[in-house]
Amino acid sequence: MRPFGETIFAEMSRLAAETGAVNLGQGFPDTDGPRSLLDGAARHILGGVNQYPPGPGRPELRAAVAADRERRLGTAYDPDTEVYVTVGATAGIAAAVLALVEPGDEVVLFEPMYDSYAAVIALAGGVRRPVTLRPDPGDGGRFTFDPAELRAAIGPRTRMVLLNSPHNPTGTVFTRAELAEVADLCREHDLVAVTDEVYEHLTFDGAEHVPLASLPGMRERTLAVSSVGKTFSVTAWKTGWVVGPEPLVRAVRTVNQFLTFTANGALQLAVADALRDETAWVAAQRDALRAKRDRLAAGLSAAGFRVLRPQGTYFVMTDIRPLGHTDGIAFTRALPGRAGVAAVPAQVLYDDTEAGRHLVRFAFCKRDEVLDEAVDRLVRAFAG
Ligand SMILES: Cc1ncc(COP(=O)(O)O)c(C=O)c1O
Repeated sequence: MRPFGETIFAEMSRLAAETGAVNLGQGFPDTDGPRSLLDGAARHILGGVNQYPPGPGRPELRAAVAADRERRLGTAYDPDTEVYVTVGATAGIAAAVLALVEPGDEVVLFEPMYDSYAAVIALAGGVRRPVTLRPDPGDGGRFTFDPAELRAAIGPRTRMVLLNSPHNPTGTVFTRAELAEVADLCREHDLVAVTDEVYEHLTFDGAEHVPLASLPGMRERTLAVSSVGKTFSVTAWKTGWVVGPEPLVRAVRTVNQFLTFTANGALQLAVADALRDETAWVAAQRDALRAKRDRLAAGLSAAGFRVLRPQGTYFVMTDIRPLGHTDGIAFTRALPGRAGVAAVPAQVLYDDTEAGRHLVRFAFCKRDEVLDEAVDRLVRAFAG
């Protein structure tokens, strides 16, 4: 684990705190989730739900996750054997990779990649095979992949495809056609898929979140991971779940009983109710985030950044070359001092560092006045 050190998110948040910069680096909202969810957690804690819940999670939450997935996405899972509750999506992904990847096995994934993926693949002794997502100039800079590069990444040692959609940090929501390319290869090469769907509710402009597991022949080979943090603006709650066919979920359970064993029971009960009762809140939050995306994207353009069209998540990816800069790491290290704003260099999320060198990510899950202050500062620093 020596190469992993302090994450860039921690470094940038520390820099932001030291300099008083507006922190658009790390992706967490600055407002709370629905009141009934917060009240529910408090009520269950005061009501005595304070001891270990069952290892696989509270039955109420497993039932709520299965019902929610079937209602929204049409894929049915048995809450007793095919749904497993984890300490956030991070623990679910870690347990899935540790359970299914043997030393020397290869994992195909898309870069830029969420930072925990490379670390857990290393912990498993696996080898990552990234396929680079690139902005399509004909599509507003939406990031996509070359199917030939995906095919070429798969070899005899490939065991798993790890796919994040809606995708952090590019904001791409993979289309059904893009997912069909992935599914074809999984079937052809008998691969397991792990899908990170933590932004499943945060899609804009009619982009539809399609779970890979819903494509033909994929349910039996896919573990879908999601969590409550982004959906309900409670990123500290670290309550997530893994759903998939029983043998794969059993493998996750075997590993996770020795990682975290179980997750906070009071929060699980509160989340179970919110998944059923707070769908209107989730829809309103999505609409509010779409407006925030537009607000920040317009401001970044006015400051001189090239904005690459995001269709979902909390993030806008930008190209800093129009500002006369080419190195995102140097740029973001200087940004808090120069402009009073913190952001994240995408380069650290690539193996192919050239591909991401000039890309910088900004989070828009903040109050409008915070976004406006950040934009004012950036315009003053770069376009003033
Ligand atoms: C793509 C992706 N996966 C997983 C996570 C972490 O999810 P959780 O907090 O539920 O562990 C994040 C959080 O930023 C994320 O962006």
